[in-house]
Amino acid sequence: MTGKRILLIIGGGIAAFKSLDLIRRLRERGHSVTPVLTPAAEQFVTPLSASALAAQKVYRDLFDLTDEAEMGHIELSRAADLVVVAPATADLMAKMANGHANDLASTLLMATDKSVLIAPSMNVRMWEHPATRRNLACLTGDGVLSVGPNEGPMACGEFGFGRMAEVPEIVAAIEAALSDGPLKGRHVVVTSGPTHEPIDPVRYIANRSSGGQGTAIAQALLSLGARVTFVTGPASVASPQGCELRPVETARDMRDAVRAALPADAAVFAAAVADWHVTNAADRKMKKDGSGHVPALEFAENPDILAEVSRMEAGRPGLVVGFAAETDNVIAHATAKRARKGCDWILANDVSEGTGIMGGTENEVTLISEAGAEPWPRLGKGEVAQRLAERIADALLSPK
Ligand code: C5P
Repeated sequence: MTGKRILLIIGGGIAAFKSLDLIRRLRERGHSVTPVLTPAAEQFVTPLSASALAAQKVYRDLFDLTDEAEMGHIELSRAADLVVVAPATADLMAKMANGHANDLASTLLMATDKSVLIAPSMNVRMWEHPATRRNLACLTGDGVLSVGPNEGPMACGEFGFGRMAEVPEIVAAIEAALSDGPLKGRHVVVTSGPTHEPIDPVRYIANRSSGGQGTAIAQALLSLGARVTFVTGPASVASPQGCELRPVETARDMRDAVRAALPADAAVFAAAVADWHVTNAADRKMKKDGSGHVPALEFAENPDILAEVSRMEAGRPGLVVGFAAETDNVIAHATAKRARKGCDWILANDVSEGTGIMGGTENEVTLISEAGAEPWPRLGKGEVAQRLAERIADALLSPK
C-alpha cells in the first residue's frame, strides 16, 4: 500500500502511550501521521513526543489562531485519508455518538468527510456499561469502524475487555480500512485450527487439523480488504499477518472469542472443533500409582459454535459459512448439516482415504447454499480460499 495520510486523534487514556508506538509503526510502513491530542491525552503523553515521532506539527486546540491561519480545523479534518481515534475513551465515544463538537477532536470528527476508525480503550465496567453499548451500536450504525478492545489485565488492576488493541492489530485495521478491495470496511470472523481439550495440566485431546485452510481463507479475505478477526486453536501453520489474532485452546474459549469478536459482516467456521471436553480433568498431573488403576474420563458436549452463531436472534453475521468434511454421501450429509446448523453456506469435501485431501495441498469442495450444490474443481487450498473470499464479497455487496 502506498503511503496514506492518517489523522490520529489521541484520547486521554492510559493506552495513549501505545499510540506513540502506533505513530512509529505507521511511519515505518510509509504512511504520514498528523497527531491531535485532547487535553486529557496530554496528561498521558506529551505533544513533544507525538510531534517528534510523527515529524509533524501536533494539533491541540480548536481556538489556536496560528493553527487556524495555517490550516483550519475543517481542512485538517479532510486532508487525511483516514481518521483514527486511539485510544477512543468512553467519553470520546459518547461525544462522537451524540454529535458533540466542543473541542478540537470532536469538531474534527464531526467535520470530516473521511472514514473513521476507533480503537476503544477503557475499564471493563465502562466498556460493558449500557451507555457505551448504546454508543458503540450507534457509531457502528453510522459506519464508524472499530478495532478491539481486547481482553486482558488492565492498568487499573482489573481484568476483562477494555484493553486497547495491540499496535500491529490497529495497523492492520487501518490498512484494511484504507484498502480499495471489495471487502474494504467489512469485518469477517474466521475460526481455524484444532482445539485442545485438557485432561490434566499437561495432557489434552486434540485432532490433526493444521489450520492450513482457515489460514488461507483469512489471507484471501485480507487481500480483498476485509478486517479479519482470526480465532485460532493451536495450529501448526503460522497465523496470517495483518489480522486481529485471537489465539484460543478449548472449544469453550473459541466460542467466547467468537462472541466477543462480533458484530461481523460474515463468519467462516473452518476450525476442527472437538465435539467433547473432559468434565473431570485433573488440576494436577495424573500419575500412575502402580496399582494398575486407569483413569476414567468423563465427557460433556462442547458448544456448537457454528450452530449457535447461525441461530443468533440479534447480531447474527449477514453470512455464516461452515465446513463439512465427509467420507460418504458427501452432498446429502452436507445438505442435512446446513439445515441442522442453520448456516447459509456449507463447503463440503470428501476426505475419504484415497482423495489425498486430508493433510494435502489441494481440496475439492462443493458449495452448498439455498440455491443447491455447486461443485468446484479440484484446486490448491489457496485457490479454494480465494474463490470463497470472492464469493463472500459478491454476497455481501449484492445481498439477496
Ligand atoms: O458438526 P461438524 O463438526 O461436522 O460441523 C463442522 C462445522 O461446524 C465446521 O464448520 C466447524 O468449524 C463447525 N463447528 C463448530 N463448533 C463445533 C463443531 C463444529 O463451530 N463444536
